[in-house]
Amino acid sequence: MKKNFIYGAATAAYQIEGAYNEDGKGVSIWDMYVKKEGVIFGGETGNVACDHYHRMKADIALMKEMGLQAYRFSIAWTRILPNGIGEINQKGIDFYNSLIDELVANGIEPYITLYHWDMPMALYNQGGFANRAFADWFAEYAKVVVENFSDRVKYFMTFNEPQCIFGSFQGDNRAPGIKVSLGEAIPMVHNMLLAHGKAVDIMRKYAKQDIQISYAPTGIFGYPDTESEEDIEAANNCTREGVFDLTWWSSITWYSDPIMFGKYPEEGLRRLEQYLPKGWEKDMEQIHRPLDFYCQNFYDAKRCSAKKGYVQEKVGGKRNSDNWVITPEGIRWAVKFLYERYKLPIYITENGICGHEWVSDDGKVHDQFRIDFIKWHLKELEKAESEGVELGGYFHWSFMDNFEWALGYKERFGLVFVDYQTQKRTIKESGYWYRDLIKG
Ligand code: BGC
Repeated sequence: MKKNFIYGAATAAYQIEGAYNEDGKGVSIWDMYVKKEGVIFGGETGNVACDHYHRMKADIALMKEMGLQAYRFSIAWTRILPNGIGEINQKGIDFYNSLIDELVANGIEPYITLYHWDMPMALYNQGGFANRAFADWFAEYAKVVVENFSDRVKYFMTFNEPQCIFGSFQGDNRAPGIKVSLGEAIPMVHNMLLAHGKAVDIMRKYAKQDIQISYAPTGIFGYPDTESEEDIEAANNCTREGVFDLTWWSSITWYSDPIMFGKYPEEGLRRLEQYLPKGWEKDMEQIHRPLDFYCQNFYDAKRCSAKKGYVQEKVGGKRNSDNWVITPEGIRWAVKFLYERYKLPIYITENGICGHEWVSDDGKVHDQFRIDFIKWHLKELEKAESEGVELGGYFHWSFMDNFEWALGYKERFGLVFVDYQTQKRTIKESGYWYRDLIKG
């Protein structure tokens, strides 16, 4: 990769922090959701998770040991604004201040995600995304964030994976775990986009330096079955629009086009315009807040053929422990298609693989599969770069094993192993491999 490409790792507050009810933190939808019978594997919660809230300095020392150049983390909204708006909790601000100070002191660039799925319960009770006022609540939160942290933090992301947020009100097993009609859900997404736009304005206004703002979507990615023009177009179409899926709302363009171009994509409007809230056109100008850099979370992709639609992966092909296919070639095409459309340098803000590894008798965690996974994806990114795509960096998901939402602690995604009984950390072989790669 070119010289200024940055290598980092990512986490999210609810997945690692624990301390769910300490030092004045308010209640989030995830704090509530995990209490529901039968929704989380093993009945687990993020109440303690990796206890990062109390072990933050030691965790950053591990990042330093691994040579991470950047760290993407999210802020727990309820830690700094327990009710979502209004009263500020100074202890929450103090925690993130010392986290940021520690990163800076160790030469690690902080990247902040504002919303990684843990909406304040107090705001959810007032309708959450369904309430148009959500955009103002989010902007208020964003203001508190930049006022307190932007003197040292330059990079911000508003929402993590709006497609999955949408899924969480379309019946996915994720907080708040509801299933509403499209007529209710599409306006919720619209309000989320409006929240992005309003937050960007307020962040630029109150920031203490020239900050860079983005967001971190996911999507359905296609890569071509053969390199024929038709298959490439089929793959591009799938990536843009999720055309082969009924879940059209998982597409990239439904979210990114309004932000980047100030309009919903045509195909999307054809399918979903009937569900948009009255007067939606008037919001487009406020939603249209082009990003400074483009982020993309990437896990897997679908092989696409012009003739056959999705092509089944081969029986017995490579899969992770949760049965997701391993498709490194997909990342090359994803960044090509995205760069072609949005013309901004692209950062992979999540990419990773889960497994069921353990600490062996030699004291090491032998996760060769993860090394292969990272190597293969970076190779494909290198190809894309040589084909003219501008890339900014790569954040591995995740820095350490953590609470994997509905899967509880069943799946491990980290470069660092966490023993949840003792909270002992062990850098995995992949973590050392990543260190050497960064050094090199
Ligand atoms: C999310 C992470 C999650 C990861 C692995 C992404 O969808 O942003 O929070 O842990 O995927 O499932």
